[in-house]
Amino acid sequence: MPNFPVDPPAQSPDGSGSANAANPAVAPVGDRHPVGESVNASGNGGAPSPTGSPSSAGELLDSILQSKSELFRGSREVLRDSYVPNRLPHREQQIRQVAEVLAPALRGEVPSNLLIYGKIGTGKTAVVAQVRQDMLRRTDLASHFTFVSLNCGNIDTPYSLLQTIGNTFAKNEPDRIPTGWSLDRVQASMRRLMDAKGGTILLILDEIDRLVARSGDNVLYTLSQLNTELEVARLALVGISNDLKFTNQLDTRVRSRLNEEKILFPPYDAVQLQDILRERAREAFREGVVDPGVVERCAAYAALENGDARRALALLRLSAEMAERDRAKRITPDHVVKAKNRLEQDIIVECCRTLPPHCKVLLYAILQSYERRRNGVLTGEVYDSYRRLAERLGLQPLHARSISNYVSELESLGLIRATIVSRGRGGRTREIIVDVPLSETMPALEEDPLIAPVGRPRSRGQMLLTNFDNPNRTGPF
Ligand SMILES: Nc1ncnc2c1ncn2[C@@H]1O[C@H](COP(=O)(O)OP(=O)(O)OP(=O)(O)O)[C@@H](O)[C@H]1O
Ligand SMILES: [Mg+2]
Repeated sequence: MPNFPVDPPAQSPDGSGSANAANPAVAPVGDRHPVGESVNASGNGGAPSPTGSPSSAGELLDSILQSKSELFRGSREVLRDSYVPNRLPHREQQIRQVAEVLAPALRGEVPSNLLIYGKIGTGKTAVVAQVRQDMLRRTDLASHFTFVSLNCGNIDTPYSLLQTIGNTFAKNEPDRIPTGWSLDRVQASMRRLMDAKGGTILLILDEIDRLVARSGDNVLYTLSQLNTELEVARLALVGISNDLKFTNQLDTRVRSRLNEEKILFPPYDAVQLQDILRERAREAFREGVVDPGVVERCAAYAALENGDARRALALLRLSAEMAERDRAKRITPDHVVKAKNRLEQDIIVECCRTLPPHCKVLLYAILQSYERRRNGVLTGEVYDSYRRLAERLGLQPLHARSISNYVSELESLGLIRATIVSRGRGGRTREIIVDVPLSETMPALEEDPLIAPVGRPRSRGQMLLTNFDNPNRTGPF
């Protein structure tokens, strides 16, 4: 196995440094970062003790936050999910294919609709973001096309999807589509706003399968036939899905319209993952701090997890954090083992954070009821507490049917278990049992700005101490 020399950081081809800076509108696919990072981002509240050595857990953590990293060159952004590197090794072919499909937009023509498939972490979002970025560099042609990138995982209803698309083109407040209109009116308004913009609109619907699972394919039907109704603008759809079979759920007409072009992203193997990690490590770490075997081990673990590059990068980032926690000067293969254990816990928390708003409120309602009763909760009860929470948060509660779909979604994510119970004459209902540790998931949701107003009050000091006291968690790096 080759050793891993860490070279100077790679320059971007155009010399501009981070390619990600030019990419603000691409919605990162949820916030999949491990828990500790958001604490890091929130800054440092405590002062060191007069003796200069930290005397409490909070101070210790603050002093770690303040000290300059011996491992990272600079920003940890480089290892984050939202960072789009300048080069995507082993995706050259897919980049070319996507670019070929979308290129007509550069001439003001309408590209074919495109569906991109592939398992999680196979670079679908990153490739599309890179092609988008490259197209936007052609500022001389920018008037011909507009990108709208949406992550359907964060969108609850067809209404909010159409509203969000329309509002992307609203130039000022009175143009914006508010909540509370009929769906027809939203649709008409969206079309007007699109026509006012004109040109080719490239609508990227990332995690499109989640939209269909949640709300069916009516909204895709609407979007896929929009060109017959638009007067000036033209629309091309780019759907991205990690569910390879999701088109089976589509009406035949919608399927054939979306499937005009199709690109499959195969999983990475261990050697490809090593190449990806080496490039990122060069950008992220100081020279010589990554021991031989670290990259290989991260890649091997991730290759077992379906060749998921996100998992590989998260392992590398967490391994560095484990090393920092040990005050080590180098990242060793042992840190990778620790990171792997930690990552398994974090995945639950990450998963909670990336839920769409109403689903988050529902999950919080379930957790609260479950915490009170320490026993299974019935769906009727859950719906009532969801409704109360939603109202307190100023959200219009969704109907019981949508909530029932969300219960199934939470179940398929492994966060809860729902079993059918017979209620005698009362018929049948579902009893929900929480399948994740409340001590991890409740604080994760309560940290979310959406849930915070109805969450239990927790001071930042409490959060830090809770994290610190729990031996299964690392510090907030
Ligand atoms: N070939 C590659 N080179 C460098 N980094 C990559 C490559 N492929 C993926 N990545 C990185 O791995 C992470 C996951 O990639 P991405 O988000 O594009 O996966 P995805 O296929 O969209 O996954 P999902 O289906 O879960 O949304 C990102 O941080 C991305 O930058
Ligand atoms: Mg993605």
